[in-house]
Amino acid sequence: MEIVNSKIENYLNSLYGTRHEVLVKMEAEANERNFPIVGPLVGKLLYQLARMIDARRVFEMGSGYGYSAFWWALAVEGGEIHCTEGVDSNRERGEAYLKEAGLLHRVKYHVGDALEIIDKVEGKFDIVFIDIDKQKYPAALDKAAGRVRDGGLLVADNVLWSGKVAGKKGDASTEAIKEFNRKLFSRTDFAASIVPVRDGVAVAYKM
Ligand SMILES: C[S@@+](CC[C@H](N)C(=O)[O-])C[C@H]1O[C@@H](n2cnc3c(N)ncnc32)[C@H](O)[C@@H]1O
Repeated sequence: MEIVNSKIENYLNSLYGTRHEVLVKMEAEANERNFPIVGPLVGKLLYQLARMIDARRVFEMGSGYGYSAFWWALAVEGGEIHCTEGVDSNRERGEAYLKEAGLLHRVKYHVGDALEIIDKVEGKFDIVFIDIDKQKYPAALDKAAGRVRDGGLLVADNVLWSGKVAGKKGDASTEAIKEFNRKLFSRTDFAASIVPVRDGVAVAYKM
């Protein structure tokens, strides 16, 4: 199911205008490899969210080759982005792109399971972003929620999962996302919304 009508999506893309040339290269790679990056509309939203709360410290669960991290890195002048990725070749590609744009000094890649790595990186984060295997979303929420500072954000991609969350019983990924959404919206320490852009982005403000 299309979340955003393609005519509206094209209109939005035409409004947003140009972006960093390295981001455009990364989008071309995503098209070639059929790799699931957040894309420019969500990327701009991530950038804006980070700027709105003056974020300096972001923890990203599921970084691929750094496309979403690039948007965070653009936003957090003088800050740090902790990237996590299970596949080392993605780290290598990501670091190369970030270096090309002069942003690598703001980014630290950790290779392994994001659910384990978050326990090893100390301190609170202004933003925790979840974009790992969908079946791990409920566990990621449990790990991430306590690590967001008061006034910070928990952000998660794909929470509408091509509209499958609106159906009856789905596959394991769909059910995991539904559980994630239920858990997030039942928490009293976060004010959560879903922005229905691309595949749905949950934005939850820690009170
Ligand atoms: C949807 S892609 C991330 C895309 C990235 N956020 C972007 O928009 O540019 C998901 C990535 O998370 C990685 N991944 C999946 N489960 C993971 C886990 N438990 N820990 C670390 N990385 C994981 C995958 O290898 C994949 O590269």
